[in-house]
Amino acid sequence: MSEVLHPVQISELSQHYITQEEKYGAHNYHPLPVVIERAKGVFMYDVDGKQYFDFLSAYSAVNQGHCHPKIIAALIEQAQTLTLTSRAFHNKNLSDYTKYITAFFGYDKVLTMNTGVEAGETAVKLARRWGYDIKGIADNEAVIVFAEGNFWGRTISAISSSQDPSSFARFGPYTPGFLSVPYNNIASLEAIFQNKNIAAFMFEPIQGEAGVVVPDEGYLTKVRNLCTKYNVLMIADEIQTGLARTGKMLACDHENVKPDILVLGKALSGGTIPVSAVLCNDDIMLNIKPGEHGSTYGGNPLACKVATVALEVLRNENLSDHAETLGEYFRKSLRELNHPTIQLVRGKGLLNAIVIHHANPEAAWELCLLMMGKGLLAKPTHGDKIRFAPPLTITKEQIDECLVIIKESLEELPA
Ligand SMILES: Cc1ncc(COP(=O)(O)O)c(C=O)c1O
Repeated sequence: MSEVLHPVQISELSQHYITQEEKYGAHNYHPLPVVIERAKGVFMYDVDGKQYFDFLSAYSAVNQGHCHPKIIAALIEQAQTLTLTSRAFHNKNLSDYTKYITAFFGYDKVLTMNTGVEAGETAVKLARRWGYDIKGIADNEAVIVFAEGNFWGRTISAISSSQDPSSFARFGPYTPGFLSVPYNNIASLEAIFQNKNIAAFMFEPIQGEAGVVVPDEGYLTKVRNLCTKYNVLMIADEIQTGLARTGKMLACDHENVKPDILVLGKALSGGTIPVSAVLCNDDIMLNIKPGEHGSTYGGNPLACKVATVALEVLRNENLSDHAETLGEYFRKSLRELNHPTIQLVRGKGLLNAIVIHHANPEAAWELCLLMMGKGLLAKPTHGDKIRFAPPLTITKEQIDECLVIIKESLEELPA
């Protein structure tokens, strides 16, 4: 085991909360040793009042910034009016929201869910049903193709498409009917599409959890063309890449490509409550009939109101363009640091990652602890990668401050 540094002093108060959580909570995460009490905009504050730049944005759920005043005002007002009806009755917010979000993204219909993984499950069900009812695949024979390195959550189906043992190992048996192809590899995709039972290809336009893996330019267009040619649904999981994060409202917009099924979550509520959505046209959506899919909280009036305002904020504050401009500046500045520990800088908009090159396999974690000590919170993914994804409301001056923190932390990391 390599040497582990402890550059960060943990206060007694923080330690109290960490110990208590470890004693009573499941050990299914490995957080940095910081206990957050409140947040505003791009900043989070720990229980001792120390301020940090948030460079994770709750895995891109807080694109609009923490506690955005318009989103919080809508949340509070709606919470005092009506929160949940279930779908046994209509609610007026759902009606207005369905019109708003379908016009916003240009689809006939939306199906409303809560978490991202539920939206992924919904997309898989829609694709299978379309495969049987429209494409004419024999019952129970439909296949969904995924890209290797995918991450779409933690349910049994989501882990059934995963290649990461920490996701799937010893949780089997797995959901059948899933195949995978290498990401960013069009020849493999065309080869697998020779199988007539394929209903859909579900993939992320940039693989977030895999460490912000950006495919070659033209990949999205080629996927779109192949899906059309072989009558396979293109499902874009934009839960992490969507909603202005990559410098466009959707990552697919970079190539002006329209997926058949669009999957959204995370920032759809600006980091307040779990809200997800699946959008597609009638020929796909209307194959699911009353009673065949749903969720008690899906489409609740509170979620619908918050999601509407969260989308308005993205558009009104022009956060896509802001992410595009600042993202380019940030990547260029990181590259100009020319530091030997940074092997690679990659990303789009404000969804970025560095790949760490260091003799110590714990170096990414150690670097995150050093940055934490200097007031910037980021988290390693897959050991040697660190994602840098601040709220999209961050300013250029704040990015400059963060670059200083990153640079100083790199310099303090033992060689
Ligand atoms: C691309 C992608 N899809 C789906 C999910 C799952 O979302 P949730 O954690 O809300 O279930 C995630 C979460 O990180 C994700 O990044």
